[in-house]
Amino acid sequence: MPTVQDLRRKAGDEPITMLTAYDAPTAAIVDRAGIDVILVGDSMGNAVLGYDSTLPVTVEETASHTAAVARATEDALVVADMPFLSFGVDQAQSVEHCGRMLKEADADAVKIESGPHTVELTRHLTDLGIPVMAHLGLTPQHVHQLGGYTRQGTTTEAAEHMLDLAVAHEEAGAFSLVLEHVPANVAAQITEAIDIPTIGIGAGPDTDGQVLVITDVFGLSEYSPPFSKQFGDVREEMETAVEGYKEAVESGTFPADEHSYVESDVEDIY
Ligand code: KIV
Repeated sequence: MPTVQDLRRKAGDEPITMLTAYDAPTAAIVDRAGIDVILVGDSMGNAVLGYDSTLPVTVEETASHTAAVARATEDALVVADMPFLSFGVDQAQSVEHCGRMLKEADADAVKIESGPHTVELTRHLTDLGIPVMAHLGLTPQHVHQLGGYTRQGTTTEAAEHMLDLAVAHEEAGAFSLVLEHVPANVAAQITEAIDIPTIGIGAGPDTDGQVLVITDVFGLSEYSPPFSKQFGDVREEMETAVEGYKEAVESGTFPADEHSYVESDVEDIY
């Protein structure tokens, strides 16, 4: 089973693979495929919980989905993505929420959408034994402040600020860093500048690893960002299965004899 220290060592070798999962069967598929890290992303809000954004996701939902993923995972590192306002408001409460993911939900680490306000928290959590994956660039929990899901680090000043934050989180003890929706040249330079592995999404080919949202990979999402790629068409498979079921029930071909059981010991009761 990979540890956060294994992940640190992987930087520079084979690219790190990370995918999201939110339930046990999906986690089992991802884990058995040999993916290094499973992120129980707050993208569950859009991907599986039917919310319009990640903001409504709760600590309880995160703990429940993380526990389901952890139960089905044998090898991958399981990272719980801390939801909006579950951290950063009050330090004791942040520690309690992050600690729950390790104590109750069996996560190996937490991910925190990072900014200047999370440097000290990252240090404190790390000191307490809660490994932290940082996240810079597009941080979807800031959607209202950013005015949309826009590319970040697009000026020299903004890129420098991102690099400063990356260094600050590395120094605070973060074991890896997600870079989301940033120019490839900015992600490459940040990757070069820090020792912890970077994991990119919409950040070009030069990060130490890649992450995508599993429903995008499956071809199940109703909307996928332009930087993601669909590797299957699960939506069509699911539609075909549901239509087949409906047709079979309505036409009386399901259930057939092999799906039914008659107990001869039971006498007529009506
Ligand atoms: O919630 C999520 O799935 C994420 C990844 C896109 C990195 O934060």
